[in-house]
Order: sequence, then structure tokens, then C-alpha cells
Amino acid sequence: MVAYEEKTLLKERFFMNISLEGASVRSRMLERFECQTVPAARAVPNLAEDVLQGFARRPRALPPKYFYDALGSELFDRICDTPEYYPTRTEARLLDQSAHSIIRQARPDHIIELGSGTSRKTAHLLEACEANGLEPSYWPFDVCEAVLHAAAEALLEAHPWLKVQALIGDYSAGLAHLPQPAGRRLFVFLGGTIGNLTPEESIAFLSELRGLMREGDAFLLGADRTKAPRLLQAAYDDARGLTAEFNRNVLNVINQALRGDFDPYAFDHLALYNETLQRIEMYLVARHDQEVHLMALERRYGFLQGERILTEISRKFTAESLTAELRAARLNPTHHYQTEDRYFSLVLARPN
Ligand code: AVJ
Repeated sequence: MVAYEEKTLLKERFFMNISLEGASVRSRMLERFECQTVPAARAVPNLAEDVLQGFARRPRALPPKYFYDALGSELFDRICDTPEYYPTRTEARLLDQSAHSIIRQARPDHIIELGSGTSRKTAHLLEACEANGLEPSYWPFDVCEAVLHAAAEALLEAHPWLKVQALIGDYSAGLAHLPQPAGRRLFVFLGGTIGNLTPEESIAFLSELRGLMREGDAFLLGADRTKAPRLLQAAYDDARGLTAEFNRNVLNVINQALRGDFDPYAFDHLALYNETLQRIEMYLVARHDQEVHLMALERRYGFLQGERILTEISRKFTAESLTAELRAARLNPTHHYQTEDRYFSLVLARPN
């Protein structure tokens, strides 16, 4: 829990962010908004450590979380609107179709969303709550405070009964300090982000979440499905080149953080579907031999023409592999929602 002063400060900043509304509307919305930071439960490597470690490996690798600076988040938003990138709109449609069923199963007093981002899709769940006479509080958990504020503002305006308890933090740093409200909780992890984790990392993460859950709680997981490789590769290599820009942008993030001199355009974007591991692999491929200086690390890195940096994995699931992964974390899938084309899945699971 944060100190009172910090909460007040966060609220004031929120207050200033709301424009166009009358003062009384603003203050009434503020009464329904709380914000707190969730301290890391364990030390996570910082960017410098991740780069040192990742560049010591072959192929060199970077964690995908560094994609999402302001520009990267904006690019991801625009990727979601490309014709090729089906996951976001498919999941949104699926949530729209299944929200009533999910809410009637879970009957939540609290909805806790890990990596909530814009909370755009969660709106479907809140609408289904309203229609079913439920008024849960919403706990969006995200690293980005500005995004949490913007998301809360829209939801508070749409639902006069709603209370938002925003949580600022990094869920990869552990869930031990997550607030534990009394009542039935619905934990939500959407977008197919589970696919960014290796099977080992995913089972560890799901197990940790499972450890927080009590009888009566439920977990809703969104996961992308295996499909024709050409469809998958197109989704990660759109014709407008937005995914390529998104991929290269991680080099700008490193340049800024570590006083580096990467030329992002000296790297090509590559997205491959690895059928054996059932995952998209995103790489940056050196266009020519080059040396990069990362001043803050006092290191120089040579890249040979054609050398690859693995920047992201995005795993794709079958109904069976998804079930197996949840079971491995002692979560029991009770409902499986999928679109007719089986492009995407939502699974509702209970602790067992
Ligand atoms: C936000 C992790 C779900 O893996 O599909 C989109 C990120 N990378 N295009 C995904 C992403 C390239 C996305 N997730």
C-alpha cells in the first residue's frame, strides 16, 4: 500500500489530466478512482542487465517488454488496426460474444486485469456485469501510469457505479504484493500476451497467479491459436510496415536508455513461424557488418551481415496445449470460448 501523500499526488495528477468535464463531474469521478503502486516482489533485471545478458547469447536476444515506450505503444495500437493483425479484433469480438456467459460463471466482486493497457476490451466485461446486476470494482494493473489514467477516465465516465483501483507495477516482478480484496475475484490476462513467455516462464507465472487464488475465484486467459503459417507470418509482417517499425523501435529505446548509436534502419524486420515450437519468432537482421557502441555500458558490439537479434516470441496454442499449460499450473479450465474460425481462444479456469 502507498502512503497517503503519494495517493493524493497521483490523484492530483489524474485530476489535471481530465479536461472538458465540469468540476463537479470531475470530483465525483475522482471519488471513484484510487491509484497505488505495487512494489516488486523480487528483483527484475533492468534494461542494461537485460541487454548485457541478451547480447551475450547466440542468437542475441532482447525481452519484448522494451517495445512499449510511448512510440512503441502507439505503433502497437496501429498494428491492431491493420487487416493482417487479427488477434485484437478477434479477441474483442469473442469477448463481446462471451462476456455474459463469463460474468454469469464468475460473478465477480472484483475484476483484476494483468497488463490492462487501454482496457478497451475489458469494457465488454463491465457492460456484461451491469446487465447482470453486478457492480464489481475494477483493478487494472499496468506499468504505465498515464495509460491507467486514460483507461480509468473512459470507464468511469461510461459506468457511474464503477470504482477503479488502478495498480501501477510490473507483473513480471511478482504478484506477492498485489492487493487482496475480499470477495470473489475474476483475474484477467488478455491479448495473447501469455505467448510472449516460454512454456517454463508461462507455467511459473500461471502458478504464481494460481497461488493467489481462493475458492470461488476465476481466471480468464486470452490466447492465440495455431493456424496456417502464412496467416501468422502476415500478422507479424503487415504490408504497411508498422510491425517492422515497431520491431526496429526497440533499438531506439536502447539508444536512449544506454546512449547507444544503433541505426535501426541498418536492420531488417523478420517474422518467422517456427512450426516445431508453435511460435512466431521476430528478429532484427543486420543488413551489413557493423559495430554498435553502447556508451552507458562502455561496450561495443559487432554484428555480422545476416546476424539476427531475437526480439520476441509469440506462442500459438491448440485447444489441447492451452488446457495442458493451465493444468500444469493447477488451474482447471471450465469453459472454452473460441471464434468459429478458431483463430483465438478465451479460457475460463478455476483453481484446483
Ligand atoms: C501484445 C504480445 C500480444 O505477440 O501478438 C504484435 C505483440 N508483436 N505484433 C503479439 C506483437 C508484434 C503482441 N502481444
